[in-house]
Parts: sequence; structure tokens; C-alpha cells
Amino acid sequence: MPSLKSKPVAASAIEKHVYKVFPNDMNSHNTVFGGMIMAKCDRLALVVAERHSAHVCVTAAVDSIHFRAPAKGNDTLLFNLSLNRSWGSSMEIGARVEAENSYTGEVRHILSAFFTFVALDEEGKPVDVPEAVPETDEQKRRFDNAEIRRKGRLQTREKLSGRTGQ
Ligand SMILES: CC(C)(COP(=O)(O)OP(=O)(O)OC[C@H]1O[C@@H](n2cnc3c(N)ncnc32)[C@H](O)[C@@H]1OP(=O)(O)O)[C@@H](O)C(=O)NCCC(=O)NCCS
Repeated sequence: MPSLKSKPVAASAIEKHVYKVFPNDMNSHNTVFGGMIMAKCDRLALVVAERHSAHVCVTAAVDSIHFRAPAKGNDTLLFNLSLNRSWGSSMEIGARVEAENSYTGEVRHILSAFFTFVALDEEGKPVDVPEAVPETDEQKRRFDNAEIRRKGRLQTREKLSGRTGQ
């Protein structure tokens, strides 16, 4: 049985995961297809959640996806993901994607997003996860902000519960 001891944010973080853009990654506008970037973020955020929880996890919600600038052919994408905070069985993971022009060294901010994952036990039921321990000032700021976003998510969920077609 995994221990529920707290874990530092750094223990599960992914920094500068490299993905080299090729022509098959482009959309009709000749910039990098956003769905590919989102799917890669979801997959990497899952790794952060499973490292932290030591359980199988599923995506419960994704919010505040902002495409800040287009990525272009020949760019190198750098994926940064880390746990912002955990509660009972749920965890918020922040994603930040940058595009590097590897010839000039220029780096641009491409995407930010927040993923909520839920850890599941062997029967597929939500199971509690370790607390996240933020250590740096940046991690502490994200830890505090995550609580504000969670309140918003749970309020929305509450308002929509019982309604059909949502
Ligand atoms: C995510 C899921 C397991 C939650 O199950 P549930 O029966 O709603 O469970 P609960 O109401 O007990 O909530 C469990 C946790 O999920 C959180 N949660 C559930 N839905 C959420 C949402 N839309 N946004 C944020 N958090 C959510 C709850 O806040 C709770 O967190 P806590 O334990 O930290 O307090 C369930 O909704 C599910 O299986 N969804 C489909 C997941 C999926 O298929 N993802 C895509 C493929 S990976």
C-alpha cells in the first residue's frame, strides 16, 4: 500500500521535456496543431500525477488552456509540468509549454493550462493522495492559487449537478 506521506513538488515535476516539431505536426495555417500540444500535456501531466500519488490516475478536468503564441515548423517544444497542489484524491498540475528556436536560442511562451487528475484504487474508486510540499516561492504561489481555482471548479460542478445536457 503506498504511503500517504507528503511529497515535495520537485519529486514529480517534469522540466523541459523536449519535442522536436516536424511537418506532420502542422495545421492548415502552417502552425503547430494545438490538439497535439494539449494531448502531450495531458499525457505528461498524468505522469506527474502518477509519480505523486503512486496510483492509476484519470483526467477529471482541464481548464484555463491559453494558447499564448503559435509554435512554428522547426521549433523545439519544451514541456514543463508540476504539481500545484493536492487535496483528497485530486491533484492540480500546471503545464507551461515553450517553443525554442534551437538555431538562435530564442524561447517563446506557447501555452499554459491546468489539469485536474484523480487517483483511483484497485476498484476504480477515488483514493487519497499525499500532500504536496511546495518549497520555492514560485511553488508556494502556485499552491495558493490552486486553492482559488479549485473553489471555482467545485462551484461550477455543484451548479451543473443534476442538469442534463452539460
Ligand atoms: C474523475 C472521477 C473519477 C471522479 O469521480 P466522482 O465519482 O465524481 O468522485 P468524487 O465526487 O468522490 O470526487 C473525487 C475527487 O475528484 C474531484 N473532481 C471530480 N470531478 C471534478 C471536476 N470536474 N473538476 C475538479 N475536480 C473534480 C473531486 O473534487 C474530488 O476531489 P478530492 O478527493 O480531492 O476532494 C470520475 O468523474 C470519472 O471517472 N471521470 C471520467 C475520467 C475519465 O475518463 N477521464 C478521461 C480519460 S483519463
